[in-house]
Amino acid sequence: MTHVFSRAPSRDLPTAVSAEGVWITDADGKKYLDGAGGAIVVNVGHGVASVIDAIEEQLERTQYVHPTAFTTEAVERYAEEVAAILPMEDARIYPVSGGSEAVETALKMARAYHLAKDQGGRSIVISRRNSYHGNSLGALDASGKAPLRKPYTPWLGRFLHISAAYEFRCENPQHPHGCAAWHAAELDKMIVSYGEDKVAAFIAEPVSGATLGAAVPSDDYWSAIVEVCRSHDVVLIADEVMTGFGRTGSWFGVDHWNVQPDILTAGKGATSGYVPFGFAAASGRVYEVIAEGPGFVHGFTWSHNALGAAAGLAVLRELKAGLVDRSRELGDRLLSGLREELQDAPTVGDVRGLGLMIGIELVRDRESHEPFPRSAAVAERILAAARDAGLLLYSSTGHVDGANGDIVMLGPPFSLSDDEAATLLERTSAAVRAVS
Ligand SMILES: Cc1ncc(COP(=O)(O)O)c(C=O)c1O
Repeated sequence: MTHVFSRAPSRDLPTAVSAEGVWITDADGKKYLDGAGGAIVVNVGHGVASVIDAIEEQLERTQYVHPTAFTTEAVERYAEEVAAILPMEDARIYPVSGGSEAVETALKMARAYHLAKDQGGRSIVISRRNSYHGNSLGALDASGKAPLRKPYTPWLGRFLHISAAYEFRCENPQHPHGCAAWHAAELDKMIVSYGEDKVAAFIAEPVSGATLGAAVPSDDYWSAIVEVCRSHDVVLIADEVMTGFGRTGSWFGVDHWNVQPDILTAGKGATSGYVPFGFAAASGRVYEVIAEGPGFVHGFTWSHNALGAAAGLAVLRELKAGLVDRSRELGDRLLSGLREELQDAPTVGDVRGLGLMIGIELVRDRESHEPFPRSAAVAERILAAARDAGLLLYSSTGHVDGANGDIVMLGPPFSLSDDEAATLLERTSAAVRAVS
């Protein structure tokens, strides 16, 4: 009997006792290759001495000081160094405890921006179906992931959703022709139909996260979306909680398309999971507008936390030592290796991704893309087969119609060696082929 309210109550979980590099060891001595960095979190790898030292050093300086009473060297230094790599000018960083809080903060920043511009009628947030922005209620309302929303629908419904950029099942009837223009027109139509004076923000993941298994938009998608947002003064929020800090092979996902969002959210890889941390960053322009307004009514006990900032700075420096390039190079190789290995696997509909963020979509029929019925639990069985073979993968289900749809994700630490990458490829292919 345990007193833990488990996140996986149907399974007896092994106890993790240590982790090093890309390996996690349990209490029975079994070693698991961390092929998805948990939930696509651990970018620099486990047990990195410089990160652990930075955390210890910070703990010896200050533990908790309230962010309205003090700033700290750790937070100031982190903000300065991270602002230099963010895809926005003169960024202002608002540190929080994780991705959902970062999204809540970003949404409130967008509202504060409009209030400061005397545009108080703007409250609607538009996001995309099959998106994920977090599990707190505001972030969940932005999320378009049906199975997660379902139990809480009475508490949701203020935000609107348009189609996702999802090439494998694109909703544009003319696909693959004119998809970017079609998506942009859909966004424009929604803004105009509700009235641009009612719409505050558009939020999206630059490359779709687990919900759509690393679905990469067409090359012209983002510029078309940005144009629509700018033409209506709708705040563009890039949710980089999963894609940020090198995951897609560039510092941020939007860098692939030279997009400068108004607000950017980060979490997960920002500290590589060493301590809970995330942030919302406002561009200098958005910050200046908010600063001129009635003020930003917001805050958490744990915001602007020095420990998170110290860990984030150490992670940033590890990433700067070549790991972002490694994510790009190894990601390219792993993606083509998986495509080759799985090209004749009858259950594999698509293998896609960018950098070390890779998704495998499982289908019952490769021609029609018909999904497996949920009762077949295909993604769960692949994860179990992988686990038995000492490999940890990540999964998502329900994207096709709210119930059916199976996706398996890879997102290993960038420090993965070539030999370990070969093991990851071999064990993933074997686990996928084992389930049919
Ligand atoms: C794109 C995106 N946004 C927000 C979140 C929520 O982050 P957290 O789980 O740290 O609250 C996630 C988590 O998976 C995410 O992938």
